[in-house]
Amino acid sequence: MNDMGPPRFATTRNATPVEAAQRDLLLADPGFGRVFTDHMVTIRYADGRGWHDAAVTARGPISIDPACSVLHYAQEIFEGMKAYRAADGAPVLFRPDANARRFRASAERMAMAQLPEDLFIEAVERLVRIDADWIPAAGAGSLYLRPFMFASEVFLGVKPSSEYLFMVIASSVGGYFKGGKPAITLWASEDFTRAAPGGTGAAKCGGNYAASLLAQAQATEKGCDQVVFLDAVERKWVEELGGMNIFFLFDDGSMITPPLGGTILPGITRDSIITLARDQGIEVREERYSIDQWREDAASGRLRECFACGTAAVVTPIGEVKTTGGSFTIGGAQAGELTMKLRAQLTGIQAGTEPDPHGWLHRVARD
Ligand code: PLP
Ligand code: COI
Repeated sequence: MNDMGPPRFATTRNATPVEAAQRDLLLADPGFGRVFTDHMVTIRYADGRGWHDAAVTARGPISIDPACSVLHYAQEIFEGMKAYRAADGAPVLFRPDANARRFRASAERMAMAQLPEDLFIEAVERLVRIDADWIPAAGAGSLYLRPFMFASEVFLGVKPSSEYLFMVIASSVGGYFKGGKPAITLWASEDFTRAAPGGTGAAKCGGNYAASLLAQAQATEKGCDQVVFLDAVERKWVEELGGMNIFFLFDDGSMITPPLGGTILPGITRDSIITLARDQGIEVREERYSIDQWREDAASGRLRECFACGTAAVVTPIGEVKTTGGSFTIGGAQAGELTMKLRAQLTGIQAGTEPDPHGWLHRVARD
């Protein structure tokens, strides 16, 4: 924070926003991450000056020097969160405080300046407010928000940058997975791992995703929707997917999800699902689960259901796992009953049609 307190935002509306008829066409089938709104937020940071030059402007390209340090050493972090429409049409966010907190934790791990949590939330709220017309109608999708920050110092020495650019952009989205299959298929990567103890697995930094792309490309080659990673030490414990956490549901009604321990992302959806399940008396164990056990339990029927979860993926049933040693299916490769119940509860809270006992919805105040 600078001496003058939090920066005030300067707002300049886009002079040539997308016309309403064109926007409606785009919102009819937005897919994921291709349809962008009219505005963006930028806030700058410099050592000695703190956070400054906060602005909402027309969305557009930015210009950076070729020696900008993010281009060389990848000091970059991001968040993923969504805005929905409440029953009265007002925009709402889901647990933005949790994203603001995780963003700070990621910044700390990557030796970056830490954006105050209230400034993070204000930045996101300002973008949602000015681009509220881009939130798809209830049930038709959501507005995916992508806050991110990168090292903007022009310097080739290897050290934490002295300058950062924080930005927020927004994208109207439908489902993350194409195709409308009842359940997705995973490729269990034996060649590659995502994160090692002491590494950056718990931070939401771009480098983690860059490192996952080859494994994800192999998954696609094998006809799978996502890669699932095993731990880097013993190469046997299930960790998470390229962009989602994972849950296992058993015939005794209990659930397991891999424990947080520095190598997986502490998902906000993961935390919400654990809370919702425990609220209704379901036993949830944060416990290591091996790929061999997974195969064995799928075959014996002890494992009834399995799902992936995350902001983009929401709650997505997993029906099949392919490995170099063969494949196995879970629950007949159909969407599980409890999986779909938890999904309905979560999306019901987000849409405002289910009670919100934990106060997760955050209404975006009008100007
Ligand atoms: N794990 C990874 C690697 C992710 O990229 C994500 C998505 O953000 C998640 C888990 C789920 O996190 P969240 O539920 O906070 O979106
Ligand atoms: C998210 O869910 O927000 C992510 O960052 C994951 C990615 C698959 C888009």
